[in-house]
Amino acid sequence: MRQHVNPLSSNFNQVERIPSLSEIYGNSKLNLHLDIGCAAGEFLFDLALQNTSWNYMGIEIREKLVKNAKLKVIEREINNLYFVFGNANNILNDDQSKFIVKSLKSISFNFPDPWFKKRHYKRRVIQPEFIKTLSNSLRTGTLIFIKTDVRDLFDYMNCTISSNVSFKTIDKKDFNYSESFNPNKVKTNREKYVLVNQLDIFEGIYIKI
Ligand SMILES: C[S@@+](CC[C@H](N)C(=O)[O-])C[C@H]1O[C@@H](n2cnc3c(N)ncnc32)[C@H](O)[C@@H]1O
Repeated sequence: MRQHVNPLSSNFNQVERIPSLSEIYGNSKLNLHLDIGCAAGEFLFDLALQNTSWNYMGIEIREKLVKNAKLKVIEREINNLYFVFGNANNILNDDQSKFIVKSLKSISFNFPDPWFKKRHYKRRVIQPEFIKTLSNSLRTGTLIFIKTDVRDLFDYMNCTISSNVSFKTIDKKDFNYSESFNPNKVKTNREKYVLVNQLDIFEGIYIKI
């Protein structure tokens, strides 16, 4: 079992400066997808190598994982993938990262930490204030994808996003993945584990209106 990082620790108050999109990516005009809580980034490496017509960015709070992922990007000379270290809430709330939020085509929250105890709910990455920040800066049409194997966490995230009037739920059955950030439905590490162990997966898709 890994030790969970407390995102509310003051260690994460200082946020990493994100360079301009043209400094980061080979082609900064491509659609941009952000994966929040990307761990070591395997999911994003798979996506970036398969879908070279998209740019990908991952945010992860465990510094060592981000350092290793950044090195791997350089070694493999991948020009459509970038990693940022820190608490996603602080990063995306910071004025210097507004340009990222405004450029996004989609965001995924894959199997975020559930923080089961009620007194720890405030450590969950999806918070009403965070969704409000996103709703104020995301462009119309930007998609949010959530996935978890924890029913209570799904209900909480679904309720938090759908109670914001700027987001509308999209029925998964009507969603065409082929033009999304994940046309081949690549699985995250946690998703592979959940599938092998035949646990339930709860997911939601929302569009900024
Ligand atoms: C259960 S893991 C899921 C990893 C991956 N998304 C997957 O599906 O396999 C949750 C990840 O989110 C990261 N995380 C938790 N809170 C975060 C936050 N506020 N900002 C950025 N990353 C966070 C954790 O360190 C961990 O790597």
